[in-house]
Amino acid sequence: MSAGKGKELIKIGKSPLFNSLVDGIMILDPDACCVQINQAAADIFAVNPEHFIGQNVVECHSPLFQAQVLELMEEFRSGNKEAYEKRNIKVNQRLLDVFMTPLRDSKNRFLGLIMMVRDVTREREMQDKLIRQEKLAVVGQLAAGLAHEIRNPLTTVMGFMQLLNPLLPEGKAREYAALVNEELRRIKGLVSEILLLTKPSAPNFRDVDLINLVRETLAVMVSEANLKGVALEGVTYGQAYVRADREQIKQVLVNFIKNAVDACGSRGKVVVEVESREQEWAVLVMDDGPGLPPEVLNKVFEPFFTTKEEGMGLGLVVSKQIAETHGGRIELGNWPTGGAVATLYLPKLSRTH
Ligand SMILES: Nc1ncnc2c1ncn2[C@@H]1O[C@H](COP(=O)(O)OP(=O)(O)OP(=O)(O)O)[C@@H](O)[C@H]1O
Ligand SMILES: [Mg+2]
Repeated sequence: MSAGKGKELIKIGKSPLFNSLVDGIMILDPDACCVQINQAAADIFAVNPEHFIGQNVVECHSPLFQAQVLELMEEFRSGNKEAYEKRNIKVNQRLLDVFMTPLRDSKNRFLGLIMMVRDVTREREMQDKLIRQEKLAVVGQLAAGLAHEIRNPLTTVMGFMQLLNPLLPEGKAREYAALVNEELRRIKGLVSEILLLTKPSAPNFRDVDLINLVRETLAVMVSEANLKGVALEGVTYGQAYVRADREQIKQVLVNFIKNAVDACGSRGKVVVEVESREQEWAVLVMDDGPGLPPEVLNKVFEPFFTTKEEGMGLGLVVSKQIAETHGGRIELGNWPTGGAVATLYLPKLSRTH
């Protein structure tokens, strides 16, 4: 490249706008050597701009530049092509849209190309999230309709099974009938959880002491936990008043405790505590299981997401919805020392008790 042409390219790069642009811009001479690179492009490619200038981009190991920059340069030079565009290229964990166009001087002499790179990672993530939410809304409506349709025949089947049971001879027939009943109960549980999710019943708000509610829930859950070899314990004194539907909050605690017991396996320990956090009470259910890997943690609030063979993947979705109708929220995380912690936050009752 002649010194004259190089100067023209360098002039473009010296414009004050160049470095303040959010999009990455890079100018290449006809040999694919970098003449100018702005800060945004340097960040995207993780290069030091000063060292990068003068370097042949084909020699650097980025999938972007393997994208036949030299061939493209030829096509631009010969005038066969006037623009190049490629979207969603993955580089260093980011999604990039790349545009390239030839650069020519006032006499139409070919000077090289200009490459514009836009980091669209966040934008695409938001789009994906929106699409997922829309899909979930459709799936939700479908599930609600289906659950409603299943409920009535299911009630009939369960009723007739009850009548049938005593008529069956002892032995295998009764054994099979017990299995049928067990599975029918599971279907009924699933159907009512879906209905609760899609058409939540209006909560029956009362003044509720969370400590008392925890005590009551532990009493119900302790034998189930012990059967699985898990020790279950928790707060028994103090008072923590909230405005809540007792049964719904109990259901959240039961969901948390069941998950914790499932996670720790035998010889595990689950502890339930209530803590004061400024305007809120926090109910923590802590276990000493393996905790949640990041890819699971990202998905736990998606309907039907489960890692368990027998799981429905609805426990946390239902719990989140209940927490939100109470003006509260749920958090799930890992304990620094191992194990998981599920926390329900509820606003404190303004009156002091
Ligand atoms: N305490 C925990 N430790 C480890 N993983 C957990 C814990 N709590 C929840 N999880 C993960 O989150 C997933 C979703 O939990 P969720 O309660 O919503 O559904 P589930 O327990 O699989 O099924 P169900 O609808 O019967 O509750 C679980 O399958 C599990 O992978
Ligand atoms: Mg669960």
